[in-house]
Amino acid sequence: MSMPALFKGRLSIPVIGAPLFIISVPDLVIAQCKAGVVGSFPALNARPPELLDEWLGRIKEELAAYDRAHPERPSAPFAVNQIVHKSNNRLDHDLALCEKHKVPMIISSLGAREELNQAVHNWGGIVFHDVINQKFAHKAIEKGADGLILVAAGAGGHAGTLSPFPFVTETRQWFDGPIALSGAMGNGKAIRAARVLGADFAYIGSAFIATKEANAVEGYKNMITGSAAEDIIYSNLFTGVHGNYLKPSIVAAGMDPDNLPTSDPSKMSFGTDASGERAKPKAWKEIWGSGQGVGSVEKIVPAAELIARFNKEYEEAVDPAL
Ligand SMILES: Cc1cc2nc3c(=O)[nH]c(=O)nc-3n(C[C@H](O)[C@H](O)[C@H](O)COP(=O)(O)O)c2cc1C
Repeated sequence: MSMPALFKGRLSIPVIGAPLFIISVPDLVIAQCKAGVVGSFPALNARPPELLDEWLGRIKEELAAYDRAHPERPSAPFAVNQIVHKSNNRLDHDLALCEKHKVPMIISSLGAREELNQAVHNWGGIVFHDVINQKFAHKAIEKGADGLILVAAGAGGHAGTLSPFPFVTETRQWFDGPIALSGAMGNGKAIRAARVLGADFAYIGSAFIATKEANAVEGYKNMITGSAAEDIIYSNLFTGVHGNYLKPSIVAAGMDPDNLPTSDPSKMSFGTDASGERAKPKAWKEIWGSGQGVGSVEKIVPAAELIARFNKEYEEAVDPAL
């Protein structure tokens, strides 16, 4: 187990609030950090791109004010997610802003890049890279990432297929740096279990969709609180990459979730066919992503209340005597 110095004394519970496309906005990030959980957001959520400067300035200012008022319990660090994929033409722009604001932590996805890791280290930040298998995990560390996010089966959004048990165990056989385990955790017992397994952090996304601060429509939040593991389907139809989605949102879009065609993986992220006609409902806006852990999420609450529940359950979670 290995907790970087950046986090020491600043977490109420070893949780990273995972970046969520569209949904993670400064209100949510600030609430997470104030409650002692790493808050994060995808840089791409700031639209137009210039908005990122304003977001980073606001997050830093509000957290610094909080820290001055609560020196005994400073806020958790925040992180920015960068999609390192050739389709992301904002990467250089967004990274320059992260450098300007000396963002403490970068979460990189869809491509490990040595220059990115070096740039973040130069301004004093750390990088966690998210991976779905051992091959990508080795590559990320070889290229200089500081930590790994193991995206296991059942995670919301683009997810892997490995069980968290062997995924953490086998990674720990060669890597003693920081590990965050991602996928299907919606309560404090699961967070404790991730730590017992050998991870340093639980990386939690879907549970935060049902918070007041999340930028999601009410129907989406209600679907999260009303669903359980069996309401989640794993499909590559909507973006070309396999991910987990809420079945009721697929039904609402007029499709049968139990008879979905598969998609051509070379065509990522489409919403129109060749003629420009609407071919499929849009992933994320109409087809709602979620992991399998939502059965533990029963009401829409402020993020601080959700984190307080996690803390209580985490403290109470013990291995029962035989
Ligand atoms: C709606 C939604 C959007 C997501 N968007 C992103 C994203 O933009 N970037 C990213 O790296 N991961 C994204 N993820 C994945 C999460 O960061 C994280 O791996 C996942 O939510 C963890 O599993 P859980 O949802 O079961 O807690 C998204 C997940 C969901 C549910």
